[in-house]
Amino acid sequence: MIEKDFITPLSVFDIALQGEVSAQSPSNIALVKYWGKKDPQIPTNPSISYTLTKSFTETTLKFNPKKGEAAHIKVYLDENKEDTFVPKIKKFFDRIAPYAPYLNHYDFELRTHNSFPHSSGIASSASGMSALSKCLIDMEEKLGYTAEMPTQRASFLSRLGSGSACRSVYNGLVNWGKNEYVTDSSDLYATPLKTEINPVFKTFHDTILLIHEGSKTVSSTVGHNLMNNHPYAEARFKEAYNNIAKLINILEFGDLEGFGQLVEHEALSLHAMMMTSNPAFILMKPNTVAALEKVWTFRKETKQPLFFTLDAGANIHLLYPEEAEKIIKPFIANELLVFCQNGKAIYDQVNFD
Ligand code: DP6
Repeated sequence: MIEKDFITPLSVFDIALQGEVSAQSPSNIALVKYWGKKDPQIPTNPSISYTLTKSFTETTLKFNPKKGEAAHIKVYLDENKEDTFVPKIKKFFDRIAPYAPYLNHYDFELRTHNSFPHSSGIASSASGMSALSKCLIDMEEKLGYTAEMPTQRASFLSRLGSGSACRSVYNGLVNWGKNEYVTDSSDLYATPLKTEINPVFKTFHDTILLIHEGSKTVSSTVGHNLMNNHPYAEARFKEAYNNIAKLINILEFGDLEGFGQLVEHEALSLHAMMMTSNPAFILMKPNTVAALEKVWTFRKETKQPLFFTLDAGANIHLLYPEEAEKIIKPFIANELLVFCQNGKAIYDQVNFD
């Protein structure tokens, strides 16, 4: 599908109707990172992620034909009115208005809840924007329009809210960004990875060490922009592109060691990009480094398949297959939780259903 296929005329929607819709959407963690974008939310390199199961956002959207000239949007997070969220939602609605023209004719009340604590530092934009986009697809149905490929449309809309959100509408391993290795890949929306995945990668756990709870020191939009005129940008984009092919091969053949090498390199490259940008950012905390060193020592000594990846923050995502859980979980509890600000981790996993 191309961009114009997502444009829908106002006439197909019955904008006299009111109603309420709800949706749930999980967060995801990138294995090959999206870092750098062009207008409008086009990634400078393709990415592949795992969609999580337990870290999700639940959103309810009430829509009423608008009363005044300007549209009103009210946002509640866990029963508390959150006026600070409104500009972001407004910006999102403005961006998607050419594809969802009914938005300008409604007042909205949005109630949202994250399964993870808001202060945990877990990126809520992926789960939040994808949950809201799913709500819009359901709202469209109520207004009389059913998209030919509703999930793809949800992904397209999500991308315009937050790039990584477009991957969250699918379970399991998901690709976003045009490349020659994934059939039907697109810069406009994500697609599930259809490669024959080795069973070892289908039951992966993701334990998130909450090293530092609190908001990020650099917003992702600022972070992505730092890749413009970055001295290593071209090399980074090329490497990420090539890593798509390498990762697919690893996933097919069940190469756990190769998986660890590639995924950890991707995570450290993301942070290296931030450290070498202008202005520079160091998003790891001393405890991030200390915990990563423990992971490397543990792996060397035990040969257990415990790997890590990082978001644009201080927290660590520990990745390991189901088979290794019995040995790895006690190690996390005994040796790694001490590095977490409140001694806490989130035990998540991926789902391929
Ligand atoms: C480091 O999707 O949060 O998590 O498109 O500006 O909303 P925006 O950025 P966002 O960037 C996420 C970057 C990342 C890597 C990734 O998820 O691929």
